[in-house]
Amino acid sequence: MNHIGTLVRLYFCTILLAYQRTKVPKYHLMKILVIGDIFGRPGRRAVRELLPGLLREHHIDFVIANGENAAGGKGLTPPIAEELFQSPINVITAGNHIWEHDAIHPYFDSHPILRPHNVHESLPGRGWGYFSASNGARIAVVNMQGTVYMEEKGHKAENAFLSIDKLLPELEKFSDVIVLDFHAEATSEKRALGWYLDGRISAFVGTHTHVQTADEQVLPGGTAYISDIGMTGPHASVIGLAKEVAIHRFLTGERKGFKVSEDGVRLEGVIIDVDEKTGRARGIRRIQESLSAGPAIIK
Ligand SMILES: [Fe+2]
Ligand SMILES: [Fe+2]
Repeated sequence: MNHIGTLVRLYFCTILLAYQRTKVPKYHLMKILVIGDIFGRPGRRAVRELLPGLLREHHIDFVIANGENAAGGKGLTPPIAEELFQSPINVITAGNHIWEHDAIHPYFDSHPILRPHNVHESLPGRGWGYFSASNGARIAVVNMQGTVYMEEKGHKAENAFLSIDKLLPELEKFSDVIVLDFHAEATSEKRALGWYLDGRISAFVGTHTHVQTADEQVLPGGTAYISDIGMTGPHASVIGLAKEVAIHRFLTGERKGFKVSEDGVRLEGVIIDVDEKTGRARGIRRIQESLSAGPAIIK
């Protein structure tokens, strides 16, 4: 009799579980790929050759790429921007080097290119925008620059904490998902701003140092965080520059020459999973995809 009772209970439990499973809402986790600073011709080649495969493999819904070093390692020009948009990039973000070439200024109005938001309002361009992802989600992307150790780098930036406080109410009105590319030098400033924004934005990605950090995490409030997503370019180098040129600078103090390295090319960045219904991140993982063999390859 006990066996029969147990079987009956098991039967009803199974029915109940099956019923509850049909009641669980099915959330689609959208996938956002953010590509680290694209450095010169090697970085652009990495994007051209590796991005299509990454989109297929990971079912990416939206692509953000930092392009502040795409033109010969410094800045962005109209032909280089056109070349990058031949690849499936939804929006290009930038940083201090975006001010190298004035010719890109008209493109700020005609193309999805963002420069840091927290510079003087009289400067050309914009620092944020609304976009549509391939899954239909409305996504706000913001580009901001840090202030610690960033003096004399690009145009003067205002306090990013106060600046994004003012901006967020506007972004929340029209977007499901908010991603910030915070272009800054100091990990302290990046981590402090990440914690400050936890639960208020979907993802915080650091850029600028060209060295990928291993501190990716989803913070308790649901914000995906990483201090720096790295560089898409030649890694057998000193942050993209030919190593012999960089070593000469340190040995002699002479700032002579600028040569983009060609070796150890890889695409670096992160893929972020976001629940578009809540705007909260569920995961973040680093990407390091090699394009060519070289002594700095770590994979
Ligand atoms: Fe950079
Ligand atoms: Fe930079």
